[in-house]
Amino acid sequence: MAILKIARMGHPVLAQVAAPVADPTSAEVHNLVLDMLETMEDAEGTGLAAPQVYVPSRIVAFYVSGARARREDGAQEAGQPDSGSDAEPSDVPLTVLINPTIEPLGEDMALGWEACLSLPGLAGQVPRYTAVRYSGRSPRGEEIVREAHGFHARVVQHEFDHLDGILYPQRMRDLSTLSFTSELGARARAQAEET
Ligand code: NI
Repeated sequence: MAILKIARMGHPVLAQVAAPVADPTSAEVHNLVLDMLETMEDAEGTGLAAPQVYVPSRIVAFYVSGARARREDGAQEAGQPDSGSDAEPSDVPLTVLINPTIEPLGEDMALGWEACLSLPGLAGQVPRYTAVRYSGRSPRGEEIVREAHGFHARVVQHEFDHLDGILYPQRMRDLSTLSFTSELGARARAQAEET
């Protein structure tokens, strides 16, 4: 395993559409995934996409703690009706998705702070769909299908965007919120986890 260098905004690998993976269960993919997970842990990121480590392939990894999702969704979406069944979001396990697909569930969007390991030190407010359904293959070749809400949905949209060459500033409607995290208040800083 190895900690990989992370590409920063401006490098062409972050701006291109990544290629589908022919065999999600190959040894090459397995080794890349291990390196991505080690890199993500070292960088204390909550998500990482293969193009961020200079590999233009459709692979993402992410993790969302239940405590984090509760904190975020409480701050961002207070007052919105809750489905009731998942009022206490549980941890989203460390997930690796290969060749993922995503579709919004409804048209509702919400603003929230985002940061990215490829734009170190910066954060901005980004509109994202509040609910999505996504799917993809695990490195074992299993099909994963999930519905995601709130912060979980935000993380997935951010990571999947990396596979299409899109960085979060391209999703922002108001660039005046693009900020150095060191200049933000503690609450915004806590929300702007790097992905
Ligand atoms: Ni990112």
